Amino acid sequence: KTIYLKDYQQPDYWIDETQLTFELFEDHALVHSRLSIRLNDAKPQAQAQPPLVLDGQLLELVSVELDDQPLSNYQVDDDSLTLQPQTASFALAITTRIEPQNNTALEGLYKSGGMFCTQCEAEGFRKITYYLDRPDVMSRFTTTVVADRGSYPVLLSNGNPIASGEHDGGRHWISWEDPFPKPAYLFALVAGDLCLLQDSFTTMTGREIDLRIYVEPENREQCDHAMDSLKRSMRWDEEVYGREYDLDIFMIVAVNDFNMGAMENKGLNIFNSSCVLAQQDTATDMAFQRVEAVVAHEYFHNWSGNRVTCRDWFQLSLKEGFTVFRDSEFSADMNSRTVKRIEDVTFLRANQFAEDAGPMAHPVRPDSFIEISNFYTLTVYEKGAEVVRMLHTLLGAEGFRKGTDLYFERHDGQAVTCDDFIKALEDANGADFSQFKRWYSQAGTPRLDVASHYDAARREYRLSFRQHCPATPGQSEKRPQVIPVRMALLDSAGQELPLQMAGEQQSLGNETVLSVTEAEQEFVFANIDQEPLPSLLRGFSAPVKLSYPYSRDDRVFLAKHDPDGFNRWEAAQGLAVDVLQGLVEIHRAGRPLHLDQRLADIYRTVLADTALDAAMVAEIIRLPSEAYLVELADTAHVDAIHFAREWLRAELARSLKSELQQRFDSLQVSAHYSADADAMAMRSLKNTLLGYLMLTDDQAVVQQCVRQFVEADNMTDRQAALVALVNSPFEQPRQAALEHFAERWAAYPLVMDQWFSIQAGSTQPGGLERVEALMQHPLFTLRNPNKVRALIGAFANQNLVNFHRADGAGYRFLADRIIELDRLNPQIAARLVTPLSRWRKFASDRQQLMQQELARILATEKLSPDVYEVVSKSLA
Ligand code: ARG
Ligand code: ZN
Repeated sequence: KTIYLKDYQQPDYWIDETQLTFELFEDHALVHSRLSIRLNDAKPQAQAQPPLVLDGQLLELVSVELDDQPLSNYQVDDDSLTLQPQTASFALAITTRIEPQNNTALEGLYKSGGMFCTQCEAEGFRKITYYLDRPDVMSRFTTTVVADRGSYPVLLSNGNPIASGEHDGGRHWISWEDPFPKPAYLFALVAGDLCLLQDSFTTMTGREIDLRIYVEPENREQCDHAMDSLKRSMRWDEEVYGREYDLDIFMIVAVNDFNMGAMENKGLNIFNSSCVLAQQDTATDMAFQRVEAVVAHEYFHNWSGNRVTCRDWFQLSLKEGFTVFRDSEFSADMNSRTVKRIEDVTFLRANQFAEDAGPMAHPVRPDSFIEISNFYTLTVYEKGAEVVRMLHTLLGAEGFRKGTDLYFERHDGQAVTCDDFIKALEDANGADFSQFKRWYSQAGTPRLDVASHYDAARREYRLSFRQHCPATPGQSEKRPQVIPVRMALLDSAGQELPLQMAGEQQSLGNETVLSVTEAEQEFVFANIDQEPLPSLLRGFSAPVKLSYPYSRDDRVFLAKHDPDGFNRWEAAQGLAVDVLQGLVEIHRAGRPLHLDQRLADIYRTVLADTALDAAMVAEIIRLPSEAYLVELADTAHVDAIHFAREWLRAELARSLKSELQQRFDSLQVSAHYSADADAMAMRSLKNTLLGYLMLTDDQAVVQQCVRQFVEADNMTDRQAALVALVNSPFEQPRQAALEHFAERWAAYPLVMDQWFSIQAGSTQPGGLERVEALMQHPLFTLRNPNKVRALIGAFANQNLVNFHRADGAGYRFLADRIIELDRLNPQIAARLVTPLSRWRKFASDRQQLMQQELARILATEKLSPDVYEVVSKSLA
C-alpha cells in the first residue's frame, strides 16, 4: 500500500501521557501501557466522535481497559486496534505480549546477545504496543522496566531514573521519566549485564551532565574515543549553534545486532557497536572517524530531531539532512576541512548520484512510499545535507545561524516540516527561497554545462550556464533550480583575479558565489586583461554534475596551481577520470594502452610536496573508484573499467616507483602510534603508497608489506597490509596473513567483520566461490547485519568484476541471499537489492541476467513490503 504526502492529516487524538511497564522474561515480554488520550479538537470532524485507530503489528493483545473498565468492544486486525471512545478525554490501558527473543527483524523490542534493546524509528514502536505511532503525536513518557536482577542488572529508558525496587524471585525494577514530550519513535529501553564508562560535561550555563557509555564487559577498554567525541560534540553544538544539552544524564549503549549505524532516542542513544568501539589495536583510523561522526550525529539530533521533530516521515530530511550537515561540519572542524569535503563528495558522487539516476530516485522530501524504512537513503541523508549546505552558502555562516536560532526557538517542542525550516531561514534573513525549495521536491542530479568566452577588445569574460535535470520516475519535467556556484578566475600564473560584474561598480573580491537560477544564464566579468581559467564549483558548492570543456592541460594547471585545495584535488580527479574513460574505450577497441604522462607528472609533483597535508597527497593520488566510473558511464562495461583502472594503477606505480618508495620510506620513521590528525594523515598516505608499490612486482616490497602486517602496532597499518596482500597474486603470504589474522582476532566480532569484508572485496578471480565458502565460516551469520554487510554487501557493492561475472552467478547468489534474509530481516534484505536495481547501467547481457533475478525475487511468496517495494520499482 502506497502512502502519499498529499494525504497528510492531523491525528484525531493526542496522547498526553504514556506510562509503560515492561515485564521482561526469557521467552516473552508483557507490555502494560496506560495512555491519557484527548480528542484533537482542532480537527474538523465528520462524525460526532471519530473512532480511535491505534497502530500495532505482531502483537498478542492480552487486555484493554477504558477508564479502568474492561473493554470488549474493539476490532483488531494485522495492523491496528480500533475502538469507539465516548468522551473527549479518557484513559486507555492495554497489555500486549511479545516475543523479543524471536524478533530477527531488529525492529521494536529485540534481544541482541544477552541484552534487550529497542529500535523504534521509524515505525517499530507499533511492534511493542498499540499506539498512535506517528511522529506528530508527542507524549510524556514514564517507563518502568522489570527483569531478573542477575541477568539484567542494568535497566535503562529515556530521561531520568526516578524510582527503583525489588520484587520476589530475584527480579528488580527501575522507573524512568522523560520530561520532554516526544514521538514514540524516540522511545528506548535497554536491559542487560553491561558495564559503564562514566564521565561528565559542564554545559555553557554551568550545568553538570552525567555522561554514560554502556557496553558489554569485554568492550570496556574501547569506549574512550566515543566518550571524547561526545564531549567535543557537546561543546561544538554550544559554540556553533548555541545549543545546550537539556537532561541531566546522557547515555549511549552499544549493541552488536543493529540495522543501522545508531539511533538518537531521547537521552538514551543506542548504537551499533561498530560506531562506538574504537581502540588502536582493533579499529582503523577510518573507524575512529566514523565513531566520532556518528556520536556527533546522534548527539546533534537532540536538537535537530528531538526538540524539534518531524511532522510526518516525508519530512525525514528535515532532521537527517540537517543533522548530517551538522556532523560533517563538526568533523571538518575536528580534522582537515578539505579532506573531509573530498571524502563526502567522493561518497556522494559514487553513491547518491547513482541512486538519483536509478529506479528508486526520489526527492529529498519524497511524495510517496510503500515502506518508510526504504527511504533512509543517501538522497534523504547526504543530498539532504548538501541542500542544507547550499542554504548555508547562500546565507553565509552568520545568516544561517540567525535562521537556525529562529527555527529552534519558534518550533521547540513541535513536529514540523521542511517548509517550516526554510521559512525560519527566510524570516530571519529576509530571504526568499521559494525557487530554492525545488531541491526538496525534484529528484535527479542536475547537469550544469558551462561555456566561456573571452572578449579581449572589451576586456570581458563571459561564463554561460545551462542547467538540465534528467527525468526520474514520476517526474518527467523539471524546472530550473537555484545552483550556487562558488568560483574564481585564475590568470596564467595561477593568481586569482579580482572579480567585478560588467556594468557594476562593486568589487566582489577574488572569490564569489554565483547564483544560477535560470535554465540558461550568463555572467559577464569586467576588466579582465587576459583569458583566465575558471575555477568552478569550489568545495562542490552544489550537488550537480558540472561540465566545462577543460583540456587535459587545463586540468594539470589547476591541479598544480588552483589556490583552492578542494579544486586542486578535483582537477586531478577530473584528469584521472578523463584518462580512465579514454583507456576504457581504447581497451574495448582492442588497441594497446598508453600512460598519459601528465597524470604521472601531477602525482610526481604532489609526492614531492612535503608542505602539503599528507592526507591531501593521499587523496590526490587515489584514482576514482570503479563504482564512480560505472556511475559516470552511459553503459558501464565492468570488465573494461576494472582492466583499465588496474592497468593504470600498475603503470603509475611502475613509472613512479622511486618517488613512491622514497616517500614511503620517509613515512616509516614516525615512531609511535598516535590518533591525532597528523598521524592519521601520515598513515593514510603511507598505506596508499604501499598499495601502489605492491603492484610493482618487487619481492622486497612484498616482504616489506608482510613485515608491516606482522609488526604494526595499530589496526590501520595491519589492515592496509592485509588488503594489499589479499589483492595481490602472492598466494602464500596472502593465506598466511589471513590465517594469522583470523586466529589472533577470532574473539573480536568487529575485527572479524573487516576480515570478511577484505576477502569479499578481493578482485582476484574466484571471488564468488570465496564468498560462498566464507558463508560457512563458524563466525558468519545472516542474523547479524554487520556480518551481512561485511560479506554479502561488500561483495555486491565493492567487488564489481566478481559480482558481475558474465554467467550471472553473482546475481543469482545475491538474489538467493535476499530471499533468505527477507524472512529474517526485511530491512537488511531490501538494502541488498540496490546493486541489482542498477541493471539499466550495464550491457544488455548483464541487464537480462539481473532482471531475471529481480523477477525471481518478486515471484517469491510472502515477500516483505520492504523488498517488494524496491524490487517492483526496479523492474517498473
Ligand atoms: N535516525 C537514525 C539516524 O540517522 C537512523 C534510524 C534508522 N531507522 C530505520 N528504520 N532505518 O541517526
Ligand atoms: Zn540521523
